[in-house]
Amino acid sequence: MRILSGIQPTGKLHIGNYFGAMRQNLALQKEHEGFYFIADYHALTSNPDPKDLKQRSLEVAMDYLALGLDPQKTVFWRQSDVPAVTELTWILSCVTPMGLLQRCTSYKDKVAQGLSPNHGLFAYPVLQAADILIFDSHLVPVGADQKQHIEVTRDIALKFNNTYGETFVIPEDHILESVAVVPGVDGRKMSKSYNNTIEIFEPENSVKKKVMSIVTDSTPVEAPKNPDTCNVFALLRLVAPEDELKEWEEKYKNGGVGYGTIKKRVVELLHEYFRPYRDKRRQLEENPDEVEKILLRGAARADAVAQQTLQRARNAVGLRTRT
Ligand code: ADP
Ligand code: TRP
Repeated sequence: MRILSGIQPTGKLHIGNYFGAMRQNLALQKEHEGFYFIADYHALTSNPDPKDLKQRSLEVAMDYLALGLDPQKTVFWRQSDVPAVTELTWILSCVTPMGLLQRCTSYKDKVAQGLSPNHGLFAYPVLQAADILIFDSHLVPVGADQKQHIEVTRDIALKFNNTYGETFVIPEDHILESVAVVPGVDGRKMSKSYNNTIEIFEPENSVKKKVMSIVTDSTPVEAPKNPDTCNVFALLRLVAPEDELKEWEEKYKNGGVGYGTIKKRVVELLHEYFRPYRDKRRQLEENPDEVEKILLRGAARADAVAQQTLQRARNAVGLRTRT
């Protein structure tokens, strides 16, 4: 099975991204043929500063490589290094009903958040469909927010196949094993848009400061506490071994433990969890040219597949076969 995932380079990756999506994606590369890319064409829809876009793409690449993406096994590249996908976007656009895109909620949501209502933002799902279809992807791991885009992809592929004959593999979504939403330091969903994140690779002392500042209720030390509504306990669940978690749960219910104590333990566990990856991240930071090389090698592998599918689509619609 070929599995494909795109990651937008829109900001520093945080532990909500890691436990909510990246960890599962990284595990999937072991059982499947992975095609993972950095979606910088998609990021353009929000008009980032050019310098930021370049730098963030590189940083996301370093994050994934540090966290265990294996570029020998998994094809890993930057979307814009395989421009064939934009040609397929155009071909697909010409069979995409306007109504299909008008129904997509992400466009409306993003405009409501203040993004400019440009055509790229509106056509975003067609580019995403091209990403998926050009690599004959079978499975696309996604969180609930992306499910609609996979449905749009399937609709476009079916319409194309019905109109021009069998050309594309019809992909399935693979809903990621659900993790509870990871809370940010203010108790809302951890998100770069809320400025409440703990970044995976920010300095350890800064992680500590943030964890110690997590919002809790004002239950006194000796009183029983509810682990299910506690923002600190939510983080503990992600990093503590099962036995230890049970012990803390008892302590919460019995009272006698203060939030400060548990926060300190969360800091230690987060450091232990990410420390090996941190070393790898540092090595990559010191060798950005090596990271570039990995991405370009991945792009060459991806391009070889993309060109074949593009040729099939060009032939199907009556464009000249390129030799
Ligand atoms: P952000 O909210 O910071 O903009 P994205 O929307 O770019 O994050 O999320 C990328 C991926 O990470 C998505 O698949 C999403 O489901 C997951 N994710 C992001 N934040 C969290 C969170 N707080 N808890 C669980 N998963 C999350
Ligand atoms: N839209 C996805 C997101 O915001 C990123 C993405 C672009 C993607 N192309 C894709 C995801 C293809 C899966 C498959 O997270």
